[in-house]
Amino acid sequence: MDPFCGRGTTNFAARLLGLPTVAVDCNPVAVAITEAKMAETGPDQIIEECRAILSAGGSPRDVPQGEFWELAYHPQTLQDICKIREALLNNCQTPARKALRGIMLGALHGPRNKGVLSYFSNQMPRTYATKPKSAVRYWKKQNLKPPYVNLADVVSRRARRAYGIIPPAVENDVILEDSRNLARYGFSQRFDWVVTSPPYPGMRSYYPDQWLRNWILGGKDDVEYLAGQQIGRFTREEFTNGLAEVWQGISTLCRPNAKMVVRFGALPSVKCEPLDILCESLKRAHSNWKIVSIESAGTAQDGRRQVNQFNSEARQPIEEIDVVAMFLE
Ligand SMILES: C[S@@+](CC[C@H](N)C(=O)[O-])C[C@H]1O[C@@H](n2cnc3c(N)ncnc32)[C@H](O)[C@@H]1O
Repeated sequence: MDPFCGRGTTNFAARLLGLPTVAVDCNPVAVAITEAKMAETGPDQIIEECRAILSAGGSPRDVPQGEFWELAYHPQTLQDICKIREALLNNCQTPARKALRGIMLGALHGPRNKGVLSYFSNQMPRTYATKPKSAVRYWKKQNLKPPYVNLADVVSRRARRAYGIIPPAVENDVILEDSRNLARYGFSQRFDWVVTSPPYPGMRSYYPDQWLRNWILGGKDDVEYLAGQQIGRFTREEFTNGLAEVWQGISTLCRPNAKMVVRFGALPSVKCEPLDILCESLKRAHSNWKIVSIESAGTAQDGRRQVNQFNSEARQPIEEIDVVAMFLE
């Protein structure tokens, strides 16, 4: 069980080991990406689905207008994106469609690499979408026009790369939910392992950073600042209580001696002691989670951080910790 599954790394790692999992996240983008990771499908089905949607007659009903959209995407590429968006909003039930949606989310924005293009957009970071005003300012200053990107080609290449060799499917459930509500779910099995990484305290930007991907999933065609269930944006006190609720709820779903592995850290900009918060939240859960080990997990490698591409003054990441707790009933 990963109650803060994000992009589904834990669940995919479990799939590689042939283990069934449950993934939970309150962010629709995270859930869609995790569903794509768990889909049982292959490149041919995904490519066929994409071609069928693009070659069906008619134009998309809803094509966003304005300077941002004109500079972000070539008009034909934007038409194709909107066509696929509408088809997937209508029906995204099959594994091939879930995989296609994941590929769309991954290719939607990113750097304009030399040679074959692998993202649909004008120059943008891959991990987060820039806000419209600053993106427009940047493209104008650099005189960057959006290139024509053949959507079907990008999808085909990505489908072959990501789904060419995939591990056998495992039983899995991917749930869009606030993980503070988990105890209300009727799971048929109890969990032996909880492996997760909660948001860092003060982490407010999961929704606004992902506004373009959220648009693909039916959200507005502008930045949305909603963040209702994101515990990362809470004050320290609320955050600690939010985590405690998750640990408490999960303890009702675990077998005795179940283990919980939590990777946790802090934003360089937020002064706090992550280990204190985690220990306090486990204490407040009033369930028998006993810490059995605490280890350093190092820092995210600076060179790999996308944030540096647009902001050279980004602060150094701080050290993360891995805490292992055991559930004693
Ligand atoms: C650090 S990320 C997880 C990263 C993940 N391990 C991965 O591989 O991508 C934390 C996640 O917690 C989610 N989250 C925050 N508050 C939540 C809540 N109340 N319920 C469920 N998920 C929540 C965020 O949407 C985010 O995806």
